[in-house]
Amino acid sequence: MKTKDLLSLNNLDRSGIESILELAGKIKKEPKQYLQVLSGKTIGLVFQKPSTRTRLSFEVGMFQLGGNAVYLGAEDIRLGIREDLRDLARTLSRYLDGIVARTYAHEDVENLAKHSSIPVINGLSNSYHPCQALSDLFTIKERFSSLDSLVVSYVGDGNNVLHSLIQICALMGVSLKIATPKGYEADQEVLRWAMSRSSKINAGHDPRKAVEGADVVYTDVWTSMGQEKEAKKRRKIFREFQVNPQLTALAKPKHVVMHCLPAHRGEEIADEVLDGGHSVVFDQTENKLHLHKAILSLWLENSVQRSAVSVR
Ligand code: NVA
Repeated sequence: MKTKDLLSLNNLDRSGIESILELAGKIKKEPKQYLQVLSGKTIGLVFQKPSTRTRLSFEVGMFQLGGNAVYLGAEDIRLGIREDLRDLARTLSRYLDGIVARTYAHEDVENLAKHSSIPVINGLSNSYHPCQALSDLFTIKERFSSLDSLVVSYVGDGNNVLHSLIQICALMGVSLKIATPKGYEADQEVLRWAMSRSSKINAGHDPRKAVEGADVVYTDVWTSMGQEKEAKKRRKIFREFQVNPQLTALAKPKHVVMHCLPAHRGEEIADEVLDGGHSVVFDQTENKLHLHKAILSLWLENSVQRSAVSVR
């Protein structure tokens, strides 16, 4: 990959995204062909927030590619508290071949990347979840033959998952109709960036309008990690934004329902929808493994040649 790090999707282009998806498809089809591609390499998972699927997909993915993964949780690293982030980044660069970071502030992932000589992959920050969006597009492509006339609808909070979805839809020319409550819109800069590249991104406040005629109905939690104190207030504000059978009835008959998980059942998504015949949520989960293996292969392939530490 041309870029050292994968922090958000706005420095990828359409062909870069297509090559990641293509490799993920090959890995999914013939995993045995890739058993040794990262032999002798180790990544560190610097995670400040809990994680199930992202941690599993990167750890298991690394093992399946012949490498190793070391989990460095919030209490091990205490990012920015135990030591200066620059010293941590330089230290990690001496032991590892790559870092997957999950942080609160997006600047922490950026600073880790700035001061590391090894690739840093964003495994979710408060602002972006690029690996999720890449694997979600992979899942969408498995279900729909063409992206050109596809309509994706997102109902819920203007959060990290939505920001990366906006970026990938803009880059790939996919229509995206967004409905968030007033005051909980996506970041205006992210929207402006996307709208300057694509006329197919629409943001509003009406979930029914967003879902009408959609091929894909996507939602995520109303309360993200770090916002727990707002949960009660958010439950009230977001009530009309639940993805339930009444809402999905407005989508196309062959629509699929997506959620990055963990889900708060009975809040942003009703049981009948998550467990129903249109849900592709667990394919989405599985595909993180294949897609993240593609990311690891592409970003780590040259890291052994990197000089020990260079601080930009
Ligand atoms: N928006 C959620 C995504 C979890 C994978 C969060 O940040 O908690």
